[in-house]
Amino acid sequence: MGKKVTVVGAGFYGSTTAQRLAEYDVFDTVVLTDIIEGKPEGLALDLNQSRPIEGFETKVVGATTSADGSGYEVIAGSDVVVVTAGLPRKPGMSRMDLLEVNAKIVRGVSENVARHAPDAVVIVVSNPLDEMTALTQLATGFPRSRVLGQAGVLDTARFTHFVAEELGVPVRSVKTLTLGSHGDTMVPVPSQCTVDGKPLADVMPADKIDELVVRTRNGGAEVVALLKTGSAYYAPSAAAARMAKAVAEDSGEVWPVCAWVDGEYGIAGVYLGVQAELGATGVRKVVETPLTEPELASLREAAEAVRAKQADVAGL
Ligand SMILES: NC(=O)c1ccc[n+]([C@@H]2O[C@H](COP(=O)([O-])OP(=O)(O)OC[C@H]3O[C@@H](n4cnc5c(N)ncnc54)[C@H](O)[C@@H]3O)[C@@H](O)[C@H]2O)c1
Repeated sequence: MGKKVTVVGAGFYGSTTAQRLAEYDVFDTVVLTDIIEGKPEGLALDLNQSRPIEGFETKVVGATTSADGSGYEVIAGSDVVVVTAGLPRKPGMSRMDLLEVNAKIVRGVSENVARHAPDAVVIVVSNPLDEMTALTQLATGFPRSRVLGQAGVLDTARFTHFVAEELGVPVRSVKTLTLGSHGDTMVPVPSQCTVDGKPLADVMPADKIDELVVRTRNGGAEVVALLKTGSAYYAPSAAAARMAKAVAEDSGEVWPVCAWVDGEYGIAGVYLGVQAELGATGVRKVVETPLTEPELASLREAAEAVRAKQADVAGL
């Protein structure tokens, strides 16, 4: 049977994710949904008309849904569901400012996903990311390994881009890593960063690394401040689409994602940004990375910061 992926929310993040997924040409069907009548249908029609030019056969299906669940029949049989529904930040806002409004949206979406696509792997991108991932798992009742969030692929890509730009080298020469939460307690991991296989610390002064770490942590806000009317979506959609592809292809690729941590790094019972092996069942396993003492301490701090907030989402 051909693969099917659903993207919930046809805003900037959702529509660019649907485009990338369709252009991979590995799915039979990409479903795009939104509550704004006609928007997902119009975008789907437009994307389908790009098929002869871009040369892909994947069909894009647009569907308007409502809170009562009408329209959701179209997502039945989805292998993967990407949840992008929710408000983005405005300049000066933190991701946590979106908590209450997006919790209502994400809870409603999750209940409908559980009803209509009970076997799907769910990839959450709505912000605040760590909390919305935890809420999606609660509201769907899915096994924890089948619900994960997108943050680390994007944050790592931003870090890699900044390092490559600074050194004037191709992005493919650079490997970086960020763990922790998608927010103030993001944990860039310089000890695991390399340029052409050499440790980053050997090719860049410590103060420059620190500067790029700070820029990475504020990477989303930097784009929001420039755009003024919304948040980033090209790099974010690339991240979510790659994760969905890894799940659909059961690839076993290891990516930094927001995953349920159960004892790794001495941390348990929380959704946190860690490296994980992805496959058809979602997170096959969390992959522990060697960390320096300060990096491990920062990761544990990040876990405690998100743990308290994740406990609160049960009541939202
Ligand atoms: N995880 C990350 O790294 C990351 C990066 C960028 C943005 N984001 C988040 O992704 C989300 C979407 O961002 P965007 O730029 O696409 O925003 P957007 O405003 O362009 O699109 C959001 C869409 O969601 C739709 N929507 C609202 N309620 C819905 C519901 N119940 N069902 C279906 N659709 C619904 C809206 O109608 C809108 O079209 C935001 O919460 C943003 O903060 C996350």
